[in-house]
Amino acid sequence: MNMHQPCFLQYLLLILVPLLLSASAYDRSGEFIFDGFSGNDLITMDAASVTNGLLSLTSGQKELRGHAFYAFPLDFTSAAVPNSSAVLSFSTTFVFAIIGPYDDLSGHGLAFVLSSTNDLFTALPSQYLGLLNSWNDGNSSNHLLAIELDTIQSTQFNDINDNHIGIDINSLSSVASHTAGYYTSNGEFHPLKLISRKPMQVWVDYDSNHIMLNVTIAPYFMSSTKPSRPLLSTIFNLSSILPTATVYAGFSSATGTLNCKHYVLGWSFKLNGEAASLNYSALSVKTIQELAQQVPTSDHPGSYKVLICKILLPIVAIFVLVSAVLVKVHMKRRSQERAELDWQREYGPPSFTYKELLAATHGFKDKMLLGRGGFGSVYKGVMPISKQIAAIKRVSPESRQGMREFMAEITILGHLRHRNLVQLIGYCSHKQHLLLVYDYMPNGSLDCYLHTQDHGNTNLCWAQRFHIIKGIGIASGLFYLHEDWEQVVIHRDIKTSNVLLDSEMNARLGDFGLARSHDHGADAHTTHVAGTYGYIAPELARLGKATKATDIFAFGVLMMEVTCAIRPIWVNTTDGEPLALADWVLAAWQGGSITDAVDPRLDSYVDEEIELVLKLGLLCSHPSPNARPCMRLVMQYLQSDTPLPSDFQPNSLLSIGVIQDEMHDQRAMSCPSAAITDLSKGR
Ligand SMILES: *[C@@H]1O[C@H](CO)[C@@H](O)[C@H](O)[C@H]1NC(C)=O
Ligand SMILES: *[C@@H]1O[C@H](CO)[C@@H](O)[C@H](O)[C@H]1NC(C)=O
Ligand SMILES: *[C@@H]1O[C@H](CO)[C@@H](O)[C@H](O)[C@H]1NC(C)=O
Ligand SMILES: *[C@@H]1O[C@H](CO)[C@@H](O)[C@H](O)[C@H]1NC(C)=O
Ligand SMILES: *[C@@H]1O[C@H](CO)[C@@H](O)[C@H](O)[C@H]1NC(C)=O
Ligand SMILES: *[C@@H]1O[C@H](CO)[C@@H](O)[C@H](O)[C@H]1NC(C)=O
Ligand SMILES: *[C@@H]1O[C@H](CO)[C@@H](O)[C@H](O)[C@H]1NC(C)=O
Repeated sequence: MNMHQPCFLQYLLLILVPLLLSASAYDRSGEFIFDGFSGNDLITMDAASVTNGLLSLTSGQKELRGHAFYAFPLDFTSAAVPNSSAVLSFSTTFVFAIIGPYDDLSGHGLAFVLSSTNDLFTALPSQYLGLLNSWNDGNSSNHLLAIELDTIQSTQFNDINDNHIGIDINSLSSVASHTAGYYTSNGEFHPLKLISRKPMQVWVDYDSNHIMLNVTIAPYFMSSTKPSRPLLSTIFNLSSILPTATVYAGFSSATGTLNCKHYVLGWSFKLNGEAASLNYSALSVKTIQELAQQVPTSDHPGSYKVLICKILLPIVAIFVLVSAVLVKVHMKRRSQERAELDWQREYGPPSFTYKELLAATHGFKDKMLLGRGGFGSVYKGVMPISKQIAAIKRVSPESRQGMREFMAEITILGHLRHRNLVQLIGYCSHKQHLLLVYDYMPNGSLDCYLHTQDHGNTNLCWAQRFHIIKGIGIASGLFYLHEDWEQVVIHRDIKTSNVLLDSEMNARLGDFGLARSHDHGADAHTTHVAGTYGYIAPELARLGKATKATDIFAFGVLMMEVTCAIRPIWVNTTDGEPLALADWVLAAWQGGSITDAVDPRLDSYVDEEIELVLKLGLLCSHPSPNARPCMRLVMQYLQSDTPLPSDFQPNSLLSIGVIQDEMHDQRAMSCPSAAITDLSKGR
């Protein structure tokens, strides 16, 4: 038998220990204390959580509610007073802090709650403090007592101000309320600011014999001595609202349009007796002070705060709502547009917002205007963020082609990168307008240097002109477009006004590929053709099909123009007859010295170079596309790697020139490497 006794005891202990433990956890004494929170014995819901010893009721987000309840229901109808339907007295105290974004504005506050339920699922945030909602506010079946620390004045609930403490019974319209503060022993009232970001302590005491409910608040550092006179003292028989054996005690909080944090640092509660005082040295006051310091101090004029709460906030709310709807509608439309051009987003150049471009050009002011053309206008702009100077071309609606076609082009052009091409850095499509953003070329266009007398001093010398034409110049850029890039790009509008000069006077070909956009706009078309008539190859005028050969024709004219500083078509001032530049150069050649055609402003040059450029210009602008060399060959001629064909003489040009109108079979020029591809057909 003796052997069995220890076994029996062990067995007994095994059964009893869990029971004892659970009995201590389920505190039937109706007394508990949280000297700082660890998460034990506490149910947190919604935005509430326990961190660093703090009970954080709201997380700093807007329009949120947070709830935390002591894990075990309390029996207010205790057997201590048998056969009585009256609820017990209770006493509680807690330390809280509110940390909002502004000195004078905050979220909606927090409340100590006694409720027949801990399921406040239907409760609303904002002025409802996460306690009630619009249809159950005031209903006696709520069985709810709340001590609200209210930091926003809600006229709906007849709040006295935005810094008050109220006793709420089944409703957020308080049965009693007072501006937050405390009375000193000599009866003086000291107001407290609930949202001062400083910890404060609250006491709530109910005496069931005198059915008296007292609420007291004091700054945290005074808290060892509770003010003897309560802030609120009201007669109310709580038996009518908390008659049940299960009453949940806890806290509720809510934010509105401001992101505000509500904390509880410590909490002590006792039924039928005075709550034990908190162990202040165990509370995370330091953490609160640190959190308060992290908030940037903001000037928020106090005189405006009522205005802001009552007038501005509703207006802002309505505005936000309306703009949200508008944005949604806009996004839907945009997403449709986008989905269609999905591939573009992945590969194309970046798009800018219209607002950015508007800011960059000061609203497309005339003082930012760089030039106008048949396509629209070009503005100088400073991009808002990068401060990069850009040329922004606004293509007029009538010269715009279909969106899809345009996007295909933008995508291709965005990928072209060459030191002799003006880089397209982005685009924007706004209503009817299309905006293209290019690298800004500080020295303007080549035609200004050739044909404007103002440039007297900055007259380009031959070395500069040869540089512009040759190796690291337009020829190089055009070679890249025609032969060197993965796809053949036809420029369609080579002319001196489309040759731009960077800060080191390097030539860059601009506007490539977009000439086609003029084809559909009748007005732009006319302007365009009139302005650049001399560059148009005969077969282009006749058949309207741009090819590499038509680009080379224009390039030939351009070479002669740069050398002679004469426009492709000019008017003989003596007889008023128009004259083609090519004919003028050809006449000089026939006259025995092609160098006679050179710009008289040039004083020193190499005769052979002039001769080469002019003859090559004539060859490139040959009336027959088949006779024109491809860009690869042009490059070789310009570098003097290959001599010009010996059979190329003035007579060969003259004989063809006469019969050019008779040519019907316009076969594309033959360059072995690449087929002629129209950009719009893509790959
Ligand atoms: C409580 O009520 C029960 C019956 O309702 C009665 O038997 C009992 O004596 C009462 N106890 C006291 C202390 O009044
Ligand atoms: C409070 O109400 C309860 C139940 O209605 C009642 O039994 C009790 O006597 C009331 N207390 C006072 C002090 O009137
Ligand atoms: C109060 O709430 C109860 C239960 O939710 C409901 O049946 C009753 O109609 C409500 N009373 C009023 C006046 O709304
Ligand atoms: C409530 O406050 C009054 C003084 O206003 C005091 O006489 C009474 O004892 C207090 N009751 C409790 C429960 O603290
Ligand atoms: C109060 O808290 C401190 C720090 O946690 C602890 O050292 C001290 O023992 C506590 N005092 C009491 C009376 O519990
Ligand atoms: C070209 O631009 C640079 C920088 O803007 C300037 O210094 C230079 O004088 C310009 N050259 C001519 C010929 O205008
Ligand atoms: C201009 O016209 C006059 C008169 O017809 C003619 O003599 C002259 O050669 C022409 N000039 C040129 C450059 O063709």
